[in-house]
Amino acid sequence: MKQESQNKREGFSSSIGVIAAVLGSAVGLGNIWKFPYVTGANGGAAFILVYLVCLALVGLPVMLSEHLIGRATKSNAVGAFKKLQPRRPWFLVGGAGVISAFLIMAFYTTVVGWVYAYIFKSASGALLTNKPQQTTQVFNSLISGVAEPLFWQVLVLIVIGIIIMAGVTKGIERVTKFLMPMLFILLVIIDIRSLSLPGASSGLAFLFKPDFSKITVSAILAALGLAFFKLSVGMGAMITYGSYVDKQENLPKMAVKVALSDTLVSLMAGIAIFPAVFAFGFEPKAGPPLLFIIIPTVFNSMPLGRIFMVLFFLLTAFAATGAMLSLLEVPIAYFTEEYQWSRRKATLITIVGIGLLGSTATLSNSVLSNVLIFGKTFFDFFDFATSNVLLPLGGIFIALFAGWQWGYANVKREMTNEGQLRNEGLFKVYIVLVRYLVPIAIAIILLTGLNIIHI
Ligand code: PHE
Repeated sequence: MKQESQNKREGFSSSIGVIAAVLGSAVGLGNIWKFPYVTGANGGAAFILVYLVCLALVGLPVMLSEHLIGRATKSNAVGAFKKLQPRRPWFLVGGAGVISAFLIMAFYTTVVGWVYAYIFKSASGALLTNKPQQTTQVFNSLISGVAEPLFWQVLVLIVIGIIIMAGVTKGIERVTKFLMPMLFILLVIIDIRSLSLPGASSGLAFLFKPDFSKITVSAILAALGLAFFKLSVGMGAMITYGSYVDKQENLPKMAVKVALSDTLVSLMAGIAIFPAVFAFGFEPKAGPPLLFIIIPTVFNSMPLGRIFMVLFFLLTAFAATGAMLSLLEVPIAYFTEEYQWSRRKATLITIVGIGLLGSTATLSNSVLSNVLIFGKTFFDFFDFATSNVLLPLGGIFIALFAGWQWGYANVKREMTNEGQLRNEGLFKVYIVLVRYLVPIAIAIILLTGLNIIHI
């Protein structure tokens, strides 16, 4: 029985499909919503530099480790560790990943719900206003409602539930292959518009002229957390996707390509937003609402603005879909492989679980706004606990596992495709990073950022 289900295990069918799915996981609300608002809240260019360092030296090696672990074992996040170390508790790292997937989805689907709502609001003309106060008001009235945001969140869950049920090749791969190029083209158009706004240069200066006095320890923790969130690492999504990747793929090359393209999309989203922030006299520190308040103002001053605005939110929804599919696939692969549930049953139970948890995030702007965990609303707590705690922690253990536990020769064999690839030098750098730099750097940033130690 077990043998049979393993023979039938699906996978990505082509190199392009792999890149589309992995990039589809990386690119999402993280680029279009989170990157701009976290950058805005932490002072701009200097923060971006710290973020890039975290991405290249910490996030990227963890991503590669996950791909290697996934492909070597052809298993879900928990099963992968069980296969490689049956007698040690490493599988708990995968278990924490499954939990992180639920927590991230809880607030992620809230925000995608807002995006869905905005597709309709921009089509109806509700957002076509020259007054920034008015776009702020439209947003506030949406998120402080009860039935309306819950309705959109449920709709989001139904849509991704349907795609995920279709499977890895026919669902995930097919959808992401179509969405990624579309998103890119639209971002180019919006960037051109945003850059031609009067006053665009102060937005660019904010994005590209670093002021290092803005860098605090908590900003560094935020940069690290963002790097993990962006690359979808630290919670097993990349182990799961890695398990669908063919033995012939060049994994280090793929990870670098994905990280570069993802960064490009984030910067393009920043260029879409910050010139307008300054042109219309907003504060870059607006936090999570930033996207929803600024983007309409970029469009309402341009010809065919309404159509472009609809397209923009549509594509944001599409980008978020690729990311949500990878988040969902973590528990789905776990339930189907470890408990032999059908894909259908796993999907339904996961979606309902996320819906219940996620409603607390959605309602934290209205009826649950006074319920605080560690001083944060449900929404902020899920966001903070995953990006700034669970993902970096997961990253430490994944790096330690690849660096110290799995075995030098085993890691090397997987990274060189059984010796076929000539990437010895790269391998040596990688090993030093996962053995020393990644775990030590994360531990220091985490402990100081959370105020546990002071330096
Ligand atoms: N990388 C996704 C984004 O930027 C979010 C994500 C995090 C997806 C973790 C999967 C796992 O939106």
